[in-house]
Amino acid sequence: MSSRAMHGAVLLAALLGPGAYLYARGSRFELPGIDRGYSPAQPIAFSHRLHCGDVEMKCLYCHSAADDGRHAGLPSASTCMNCHRLVHERDQPPEVPGATPRVAPELAKLYDAVGYDATTHTYVAGAETHPIEWIKVHDLPDFVAFDHSRHVRASVACQTCHGPIETMDRVEQVNTLTMGWCLDCHRAVGAGRVPELAGRTPSTDCSACHY
Ligand code: HEC
Ligand code: HEC
Ligand code: HEC
Ligand code: HEC
Ligand code: HEC
Repeated sequence: MSSRAMHGAVLLAALLGPGAYLYARGSRFELPGIDRGYSPAQPIAFSHRLHCGDVEMKCLYCHSAADDGRHAGLPSASTCMNCHRLVHERDQPPEVPGATPRVAPELAKLYDAVGYDATTHTYVAGAETHPIEWIKVHDLPDFVAFDHSRHVRASVACQTCHGPIETMDRVEQVNTLTMGWCLDCHRAVGAGRVPELAGRTPSTDCSACHY
């Protein structure tokens, strides 16, 4: 173990009384592993099945930071509006000019957030706008250094860690995200037991994953 790693491990041990651990997990008082199956309702019922299964959108269209840095990121409401300026509901009939179109209730929430009028196809001047407060599903403690880009650039598929997102109407955490889960894969890949990741050598040093 390098001295930096040792330093990290000692720091961690000092830090990680149960209280500190719960603190590190934020306000969700849960222990590792319990989050599997976590699937909170979202402020808008956004469906990956609809957008990635039926409409076949690419993950990076909305999570464009995933190959670039630590976080995959979430799309802004204006990304949604690229399409939803014109798409107001599923199986939408052709619009009659000037008539008030039907708007799906979940999309009405999106329009309200950005101040959009579907009848005139304009953003209402001076309308009060607000961000959409998506609820986090996956959440590692802050003392873990996880970086999407290291995995995405090494061709680890999103689904390997997140499961078949394109079949989900509501996102669900399918893996435990524990240290053992990370290490099992790092060891398996390093030992050549994952053919599609042959030649990769992910680290198992404490300091790779802990500051
Ligand atoms: C049209 C935009 C869009 C596309 C395309 C998209 N997503 Fe998402 N994704 C979202 C939004 C919005 C959220 C937040 C709401 C939710 O959890 O459903 C989200 C949430 C997630 C989450 C959970 C985030 C968290 O809080 O932990 C994961 C994981 C995810 N997406 C993976 C994927 C994968 C994998 C694909 C490709 C198969 C994909 N997404 C394609 C918009 C998109
Ligand atoms: C090696 C496993 C792994 C892979 C591969 C992976 N993710 Fe993640 N993802 C995670 C973990 C772990 C978290 C929680 C990160 C945190 O809390 O810091 C996460 C969080 C997210 C989030 C929530 C926002 C964020 O960035 O923290 C989104 C969205 C997401 N992933 C989308 C994707 C997409 C899209 C892909 C493929 C392009 C992908 N992930 C590939 C493990 C993975
Ligand atoms: C590339 C275009 C595109 C983008 C970007 C997009 N959508 Fe969609 N969305 C669609 C299409 C097309 C449908 C209708 C699918 C159908 O007819 O089955 C749809 C359907 C929906 C529905 C269901 C409407 C109903 O009738 O119940 C909701 C809600 C929704 N989208 C929300 C969002 C949100 C939120 C975002 C941004 C995170 C987003 N969409 C981004 C194309 C898009
Ligand atoms: C499905 C397999 C898999 C899982 C699960 C996984 N990783 Fe990785 N990880 C990899 C691969 C492959 C690489 C890239 C190694 C390379 O480029 O040679 C990597 C690279 C990394 C790196 C960059 C350092 C390095 O050795 O390249 C860190 C840090 C890391 N992973 C942390 C994590 C953490 C933290 C988790 C759990 C939350 C995790 N990983 C889960 C496969 C995985
Ligand atoms: C591949 C990434 C990875 C490596 C390598 C790694 N860890 Fe972790 N570790 C994690 C993740 C993710 C968590 C948070 C989830 C959990 O507690 O299982 C964690 C949690 C911990 C915790 C808190 C445990 C608990 O039960 O709350 C300690 C202590 C720890 N690691 C020490 C170490 C030490 C010491 C090493 C080196 C021998 C090490 N870690 C190597 C990913 C890693």
